[in-house]
Amino acid sequence: MPKTAILGTGHYVPSKVVTNDDLAEMFTTSDEWIQQRTGIKKRHFIEESGIGASDLAVPAVKAACEQAGVDVQEIDAIIFATLSPDYFFPGSGCFLQRKLGLGQIAALDIRNQCSGFLYGLQIADAWVRTGMYRRVALVGAEVHSTGLDFSDEGRDVAVLFGDGAACVLLGPTDEEDRGVLDVTVHADGSGAEELWIEAPSSAHVPRMTQQMLDDKKHYPKMNGKQVFRWATEKMPEATLAVLGRQGLGPQDVDLLVPHQANRRINEMVAKKLGLPADKVVHNIEVYGNTTAASIPLALSEAVRDGRAGPGSLVLFAAFGSGFTWGAGLARL
Ligand code: ACO
Repeated sequence: MPKTAILGTGHYVPSKVVTNDDLAEMFTTSDEWIQQRTGIKKRHFIEESGIGASDLAVPAVKAACEQAGVDVQEIDAIIFATLSPDYFFPGSGCFLQRKLGLGQIAALDIRNQCSGFLYGLQIADAWVRTGMYRRVALVGAEVHSTGLDFSDEGRDVAVLFGDGAACVLLGPTDEEDRGVLDVTVHADGSGAEELWIEAPSSAHVPRMTQQMLDDKKHYPKMNGKQVFRWATEKMPEATLAVLGRQGLGPQDVDLLVPHQANRRINEMVAKKLGLPADKVVHNIEVYGNTTAASIPLALSEAVRDGRAGPGSLVLFAAFGSGFTWGAGLARL
C-alpha cells in the first residue's frame, strides 16, 4: 500500500479585520481581557452577506494545488470539514465542487467541529492508501461571524471565533520517509451540550420558533471552563498515543500544529509534552479560532514561512465540541 503524502497546503481569510477594540464597541469587553484569557488580538470576518464557507474554500484549494504543482482538475474527491456550512443541506463540499468546476467527483461534508481536520485526515488517509482516490482536497472552512451573539450575553463565545479556510491536498507516495504516519480520533457525547447550538433543531416541531430566537438558542453556548479542562487533558493524551504507536516521543517532533482555540490551552499542552516554545505554531493572535480551518491554516502558514518543510515531523492535535478530539502525525 502507498502512504498518503501532504502534497500541498493553502489558506485564505477574508479581508475584513476585526480587532478586540472593535468588539469592545459592540459589548462589554476589553482588549486586555481577551488577550489575557485567549491570546487573540484580532480576527477576520467576511466582508458582506452572501459569502459562505465554500466561497472561502475556493482560493484555499487553489493555493494548495499551486503549491503541490497539481492542476485543480486533478482533484478526485473533496472532504469538507465545517460546523458552519453554507446551508443545512446540501453540504458545502457540493457547492465547492461546483465553484471549482470539478464535474461529478465525490464531495463529503463532515461535522466534527474543531476536530474536523483530523477526522477528515483519517478518512482521506484510508481513501488514498486503498487506492480509492489519488488527489483528495481536505478542506476546513468556517464562517462564524454570521452566527455569534455580539451582546454582553454572548461575549464569552463571540470574542473567540474568526472566519477562514484552508486546504491540504493529499495523494499517494512511495517515498519511504514521507506521509501520514498515524491519526487517532475520539468522541465523548456526554459533553455534547457543553458547547453547542441548540436551534434550529430537527428534534423540535417546529424546528425554529420565535421563542427560540428570543431565547437566543440559535447562538453557540459554551461551558468554557469545562472545555478548557478537557482540552488540556485530551490533547496531550492523544498526541502521546500516536507518538507511542510509532515508537516516537515528543523530542522527535519538529513542529506541533495544534488547533487554535486558546493560546493558553496550547501552551499548557506543549508544557505537558515538554516541547519548547519554538516548536509550537500559534496564530490565534491574528485569526482567532477558525475551528475546522485552524490546523490546516496554521500548517499552511508554517510551510510558507519555512518553519515546516520536506522531512519535518509534524504533530497535530485538536479538541472541540462533541466533545471530539484527536491527534495526527505526518512527515512532510
Ligand atoms: N470580556 C470580558 N469579560 C468576560 C468576557 C469577555 N469577552 N467573557 C466572559 N467574561 C467574564 C465572565 O462573565 C466572568 O465574569 P464574573 O467573574 O463576573 O462572572 C469572567 O469574565 C471570567 O469568566 P470565565 O468564563 O471564568 O473566564 P475563563 O477564564 O474561563 O475564560 C474562556 C473564558 C476564554 C472562554 C476559556 O474558558 C476558554 O478558552 N475555554 C476554552 C474554549 C475552547 O477551547 N473552545 C473549544 C473550541 S470551539 C469548538 O469546538 C467549536
